[in-house]
Amino acid sequence: MASQLQQAVPADWNVPDNLKEAMSYSLMAGGKRLRPLLVIAAAEALQGSREAALPVACAVEMVHTYSLIHDDLPAMDDDDYRRGKPTNHKVFGEAMAILAGDALLTHAFYSVVQASQKHGVPAEAALAIVEDLSRYAGPAGMVGGQVADMEGEQGMTDLGQLRYIHEHKTGDLIVFCLKAGGRIAAASTEQLQALETFGRAIGLAFQIQDDILDLVGDESKLGKKTQSDVKQQKVTYPYFVGLEASRAEVDRLTRQAREAISGGAIPRPERLIEIADYLMHRDR
Ligand code: IPE
Ligand code: IPE
Ligand code: MG
Ligand code: MG
Ligand code: MG
Repeated sequence: MASQLQQAVPADWNVPDNLKEAMSYSLMAGGKRLRPLLVIAAAEALQGSREAALPVACAVEMVHTYSLIHDDLPAMDDDDYRRGKPTNHKVFGEAMAILAGDALLTHAFYSVVQASQKHGVPAEAALAIVEDLSRYAGPAGMVGGQVADMEGEQGMTDLGQLRYIHEHKTGDLIVFCLKAGGRIAAASTEQLQALETFGRAIGLAFQIQDDILDLVGDESKLGKKTQSDVKQQKVTYPYFVGLEASRAEVDRLTRQAREAISGGAIPRPERLIEIADYLMHRDR
């Protein structure tokens, strides 16, 4: 995966050096690579090609990395550490961080198209993946969720609003990963639905766990500062229902996710189930 990501920003690319450096800095800083893993695991769960899934896996990691660079900006969460390193704007300045994010977002769509150009994914499937990516990452998806997160104020938001925030700012891109993997493997409507239900459940569980770790996690493991939500007075699951109920909800959603893909529609669900179980216990 690392070498694929490296190739996405080639050293000899005719692009301003500082921009290439800023893009690579955050993209190659590490991170769990959960989203690319999900794209590949979803494709393989339907016996699809890993090679064909790779450009889409890179694309989603680029979109995710852009969202983190912007999320950390002073105008947003104002965070100084990410993936164990100073945040992009701390190293390259705010203007370059904004542009590096823009560049990663735009370049992601180029990468999706390569699945079709170089790996034989039918144009119709690639078109559906492009449509999904713009929808799940865009105003009706992740960006809308980030806006709701920004506007949410403690004491003024209800649990429904909180679910909206989590489903969109985090859940939607995770749903994208599952569906894209499915599309690469020529999934049926029924299979896409099972993958979407799985993605919806682990996506929400993932953000609840992120909120829990913001309160009780270990900074050196997470590679980012804890207590960021407290500092920014963010509306989170633990804020609403407490830590224990939040943990129980992660548990319940993980079981729901497992069930969604265990009914027989997905021929090889084991790896996806392993990922869901790992996420429930993650500490980073
Ligand atoms: C952090 O995502 C932002 C959220 C959507 C919760 P990750 O926890 O997947 O971050 P990395 O990719 O491992 O750095
Ligand atoms: C980030 O949510 C969601 C997106 C970047 C789209 P958070 O603000 O909770 O993520 P962290 O905790 O900074 O990683
Ligand atoms: Mg945020
Ligand atoms: Mg943040
Ligand atoms: Mg967080």
